[in-house]
Amino acid sequence: MNSDIKLFENGKRLDGRKNDELRKIKIEVGVLHRAEGSCYLEWGDNKVIVAVYGPREAIPRHTQNPLRAIVNAKYNMAAFSVGDRKRPGPDRRSREISKVISEALENVILVEKFPRASIDVNIEVLDAEAGTRCAGLTAAAVALADAGIPMKDIPVACAAGKIENQVVLDLGKEEDNYGSADLPIAISPRTGEILLLQMDGHLTVEEFDKALDLAIKGCYIVSDIQKKAILEKYQPNSEGK
Ligand code: CDP
Repeated sequence: MNSDIKLFENGKRLDGRKNDELRKIKIEVGVLHRAEGSCYLEWGDNKVIVAVYGPREAIPRHTQNPLRAIVNAKYNMAAFSVGDRKRPGPDRRSREISKVISEALENVILVEKFPRASIDVNIEVLDAEAGTRCAGLTAAAVALADAGIPMKDIPVACAAGKIENQVVLDLGKEEDNYGSADLPIAISPRTGEILLLQMDGHLTVEEFDKALDLAIKGCYIVSDIQKKAILEKYQPNSEGK
């Protein structure tokens, strides 16, 4: 943490947001012609595109599970998505994010319906400005719904964190870089079940509880935006109601 960087100006965050305010989110459903389901999502300055394929026979065959489908989420950050050009291809961070997103999605997809199959979820980050795992998972959930993959619920993700001793919702880039903690979560909004929880930095128990509450509230706001986007495609006259 760099104490010279001020993350609040006149009581507001650098981008003018209140502590419990999300960045602007825009979701488009079914943007790719070839994929079975797809989604383009903007979350602040993050831009993410997701393509879903499957369920289809898992290849190579030794990866097949005779009892259920495997969920194969692949998170990738484009080399041009960050300030310093990123080395293309998988690294430790993208493997970790792919794994936690796959596990979160596996808990809501009705995987028992598709033995030996694989459901492939390709998450491409085009522009990365902090919070890309939440943006990626949120977009993946919408693309899975667009692909008609049966799920118990449409999962959703959001983060809260701590900057200059205050707990805030949805850290932006400077806040992520110079803040003291980030707590990304994913939930099943219907049941409230937590599907993913990671933490970077330090929080007291009290701060953790506050950040978790705030992140859950954020998830419900994002969930409404997801549902509205899906309804706009499939029931264009419903106005998302
Ligand atoms: O994106 P997310 O917050 O889920 O993950 P992170 O590992 O906490 O990364 C935070 C941010 O750091 C990313 O969103 C990118 O803007 C940036 N980053 C980067 O500039 N270069 C990398 N190789 C990885 C991340």
